[in-house]
Amino acid sequence: MRVVFFGGKGGVGKTTISSAYAVKKAEEGKEVLLISTDPAHSLSDIFQEEIKGEKKLRDRLTAVEIDIEVEFESYKEKVLKLSSHLFSFQTRQTLEDLLHTLEESPGIEDVVILETLSRILITKNYDIAVVDTAPTGHTLGLLKTVRNASGILREVIKIKKRIRTLREMAGNETKDTALEIIEEREKRLNTFARIVYTESLFIPILNPEKLPVLETRRLISGLKHIGIDVNTIIVNKVLPQNPKDPFLVKRKEVEKKYLKEIEEFFRGMRKLYIPLLEEEIVGYERLMNFARKFLSI
Ligand SMILES: Nc1ncnc2c1ncn2[C@@H]1O[C@H](COP(=O)(O)OP(=O)(O)OP(=O)(O)O)[C@@H](O)[C@H]1O
Ligand SMILES: [Mg+2]
Repeated sequence: MRVVFFGGKGGVGKTTISSAYAVKKAEEGKEVLLISTDPAHSLSDIFQEEIKGEKKLRDRLTAVEIDIEVEFESYKEKVLKLSSHLFSFQTRQTLEDLLHTLEESPGIEDVVILETLSRILITKNYDIAVVDTAPTGHTLGLLKTVRNASGILREVIKIKKRIRTLREMAGNETKDTALEIIEEREKRLNTFARIVYTESLFIPILNPEKLPVLETRRLISGLKHIGIDVNTIIVNKVLPQNPKDPFLVKRKEVEKKYLKEIEEFFRGMRKLYIPLLEEEIVGYERLMNFARKFLSI
């Protein structure tokens, strides 16, 4: 597997576990790319180094925090370039205005992240890419977009090719720059879809609590619905086995109920249990120790 996506509800441990996993793979000799698609980046915080964009952290470990603003600018440029080959000048002006409005619209971040992630995964050199995703819904939305967008572009290409054939028959000029751009994008999305569907592993992370358990069920069935199977889950922040403190004794009772539910709901899946630790897991060395101890994947 070349790409590993870690997903799950807010605060369950996605950034910690994906960072530790990336460190582990780099230590094992793999060339690793650790990518955060969450607009609220925390890779810099966890490695205690300013990443902002892309940064080589160690010999075989590169971290990327997708910069939405920078990427959105280049996305707008691409859309304008395509539009200049599709529409008249007046329409292009209108489109430029529209792009300014788009900047403020919800959902545009998803599109830009998708664009950037696909570009990174297709063009960069690495053995393993580890993707620290934003909380659940967002990621599912992203993966769905891959399939839909590729399908839509294929339809547009079909139509444009028909038009080109008609033009050829009429003896008109047949060079179609817009078609070339669209074909290039369709090829890229297709390659990305292939990576997502055949070379990726999606690992949900949850805590043994009501809401994360329910959300993980939805996440797994949502992924299944779009053709992605989950075979491993990570249960993080499990309380100590026999606590003495009355507060923890009570919490452990509640937790047991959810651990049982996890066994039942996610039967047949490989489960990795990680205890709630006393210390914070920040910095390369701590991440490495954490991974060695708890991440047998
Ligand atoms: N096993 C653990 N033991 C103790 N603390 C942990 C453990 N796993 C994660 N944490 C801590 O929990 C907090 C949340 O973890 P993290 O930032 O990795 O979650 P996240 O899923 O990426 O959150 P977000 O959804 O906000 O991106 C962090 O302070 C982290 O240090
Ligand atoms: Mg995070």
